[in-house]
Amino acid sequence: MIIAANLKTNLTREKTDKYINEVENFLNQHGISQEVLVFPALSSLNLHVGKVTVGAQNAYPAQNGAFTGEIGNEQLEEFNIKTILIGHSERRHVIGETQAEVVKKFNFYKELGFKIVYCIGESLQIREAGDKVMMNYLSSQFEGIDLEYENLILAYEPVWAIGTGLTPTLEDIESLHLKLKEQCKAPLLYGGSVKVSNAEEVLALNGVDGVLVGGASLNSDDFCTMVKYAQNIENNK
Ligand code: PGA
Repeated sequence: MIIAANLKTNLTREKTDKYINEVENFLNQHGISQEVLVFPALSSLNLHVGKVTVGAQNAYPAQNGAFTGEIGNEQLEEFNIKTILIGHSERRHVIGETQAEVVKKFNFYKELGFKIVYCIGESLQIREAGDKVMMNYLSSQFEGIDLEYENLILAYEPVWAIGTGLTPTLEDIESLHLKLKEQCKAPLLYGGSVKVSNAEEVLALNGVDGVLVGGASLNSDDFCTMVKYAQNIENNK
């Protein structure tokens, strides 16, 4: 399974280093064989050698150049970062990234062989418009994306569930994941208000290959508990 922490705009470089070391120690002490990804704020990126894979929450689709306020692959190379989150709902809806921009980023980092965690998800308004509208909307977020890319990981994150404490029902998550899996065979994570109290049941669902955790990942103990749940589920398969 894949357990990912999206630290968003939180933690300083010092706190992030401490966090990653705590998670790394946990993985080693508990013989964790699951894939663990951590996405720190860009200013907290650092070289890390170990089981934890550190990824970028965002980067501009360029090696370097005149893109004020952005970082490119040159800045990722400095820390040996080869994993990136693309299409997160906060990039799409708060920052205003369009599907065309998302596709450009995807293709650029795909060319470089990055592991890409590609996020899709619908707003509440779209969900309430019914299954057909919702599936069409989700498919539109696949437009221009190579769903066969070997280093692709998908994350389904309903926008209305991110940071709100709300989640779809377990039945809804399962049925949607199974539908999405018909369109794309890549590992599929669920994200949106995953926390210690619900992670175990979400991870146990058919069609769920892991979780992408925001707010509840900020506490390293909580994040490690969720990693352990995934390990236990795999051990019991
Ligand atoms: P949340 O965020 O866990 O705080 O809902 C998830 C995400 O944005 O990836």
